[in-house]
Amino acid sequence: MLGLVKESMDCEFRVGLVPHDVAQLTPHFKVMVEEGAGVMSGYNDEAYAQVGAKIVGTKKAWAQQVVVKCKEPLEGEYALLTEGATLFSYLDLAYNKPLAQMFIEKKITSLCTETLAGPKNNYPVLAPMSVIAGQLAAHFVQHYLLGLEHLPGVFGLGVLLGGLAGQARAKVVVVGGGVVGLEAAKSLSLAGARVVILELDPLKLQEHPYKQLYHLEVLAVHEENIKDALNGAVGLVGAVLITATSTPKVILKRHLALMQKGGVVVDVACDLGGCVETIRQTSHSQPVYSQEGLLHYGVPNMPGVVAKTSSIAYSQASLPYLRHFLQYGLKGFLEANTREVANTLGALSAHQGYLTQEGIARAFGLPFKSAVVVLNGL
Ligand SMILES: NC(=O)c1ccc[n+]([C@@H]2O[C@H](COP(=O)([O-])OP(=O)(O)OC[C@H]3O[C@@H](n4cnc5c(N)ncnc54)[C@H](O)[C@@H]3O)[C@@H](O)[C@H]2O)c1
Repeated sequence: MLGLVKESMDCEFRVGLVPHDVAQLTPHFKVMVEEGAGVMSGYNDEAYAQVGAKIVGTKKAWAQQVVVKCKEPLEGEYALLTEGATLFSYLDLAYNKPLAQMFIEKKITSLCTETLAGPKNNYPVLAPMSVIAGQLAAHFVQHYLLGLEHLPGVFGLGVLLGGLAGQARAKVVVVGGGVVGLEAAKSLSLAGARVVILELDPLKLQEHPYKQLYHLEVLAVHEENIKDALNGAVGLVGAVLITATSTPKVILKRHLALMQKGGVVVDVACDLGGCVETIRQTSHSQPVYSQEGLLHYGVPNMPGVVAKTSSIAYSQASLPYLRHFLQYGLKGFLEANTREVANTLGALSAHQGYLTQEGIARAFGLPFKSAVVVLNGL
C-alpha cells in the first residue's frame, strides 16, 4: 500500500523514511521499499527488510496507492505514478508547472511536506532542511571564495572571511532572516564575517538570540539598505520565502554590481525560483556559473549531499504526519488537531484534478478548488 521510492535527482542521496521510522509503520501497514532506496543514506535493503518492509523493484514501489519520497519526482518518473495515487514529498510546486499539470491529468492527491504549517505554524518538516541548507550555504560561500580555479579560467577571490588583525572583516549579506537565513548568518559570523541580514520584517528578529550572540546587523529590505549592504560585499546568500508562491526577485543586477568582483552568490531559495535576478538552477555535479563577475550557486537540493543527516531529520519530522494520513485517511489528515499533527490543510496541493493552493493555480492558469472545499466534500 505504501511505496518508498528511490530519489533520482542529481546527487540526491536522501531517502524519505529511514528503517527506524519504517519500523513504526510496518506493524499496521504494508511498506514496499524500492531496491537500493536507502543505500546512499547508509541504509541497505537488509536494514529495511529487518523491520518488516518488502523490497521491490522500481515499478512496484511506484505503483502503490501512497508514494513516499523526499524530493519532487522528475518528468521521466511521472508515468510511474498510478492515477489517483497520493504523493507525500517535498514538491516545490510553485516553480514546477509540468508537475502541477501531471497532478491534474493523473488526479494525484499531493501532500506537500514543506507547506505543512504544523501545530506551531512554523513549517516543522521544512525547517530541518532549512537548517542544513543554511549551514551549507555558509560553507559554499567560504569554499567559492578560496582562490582556486572553480570554473575554467575563473578563480575565487582568495578571501578568508575573518581576515587578520589590521584588516577589515569580509562582508556577507543574507536576504531573508528566516530559518535558512539565520542559520547561514550564524555560521558565517562564526567564521569571522561581518553579516548583514536584509529582512522584510526586521522587527521579528529584534529579540532573536542569534542577533546578539552572533553580532548580526538586521536591516529592513528597501532600495537604500540593499545598496548600502551590498556595497563591497564578497558574498550574498538568498533565503527568502513566501510560502506556496515562487520567490520574488529582491536583489537585481544593479545591486550585484556593488559587490566585489569575484564574489559569491548562493541563492538557497533557487528551489522556488530564487530571490536574485541572475540565479538559475544548477546541480551538485555542476554547481556554479559565472555572471556579472560573480560565481553563482543555485543547487535546489543542497541537503541531498549530507544524506545521512538529512534523511534522519526528514524522516523523523514527517513521520507523525504520514502515520496520521495512513491511519485516518485524507479527511482525518486534513482535520488533524493533535499536539503532534495540526494545521495540515496547507499541505494539500492537488486533489482529483484540481490544484488546491490558489496562488500556484492562478500563476499556472490551472483549475483550482480550495482545500476547505475539498475537505467539506470528503
Ligand atoms: N536549495 C535548497 O536545497 C533548500 C533547502 C531548504 C530550504 N530551501 C529554500 O530556502 C528558502 C527559505 O526557507 P526558510 O525555511 O528559511 O523560510 P522562512 O519562512 O523561515 O524564512 C523566509 C524569510 O524570508 C523573509 N522574506 C519574505 N519576503 C522577503 C523579502 N522580499 N525580502 C527579504 N526577506 C523576505 C520572511 O519574512 C522570512 O523571514 C525557501 O525558498 C526554501 O524552499 C532551499
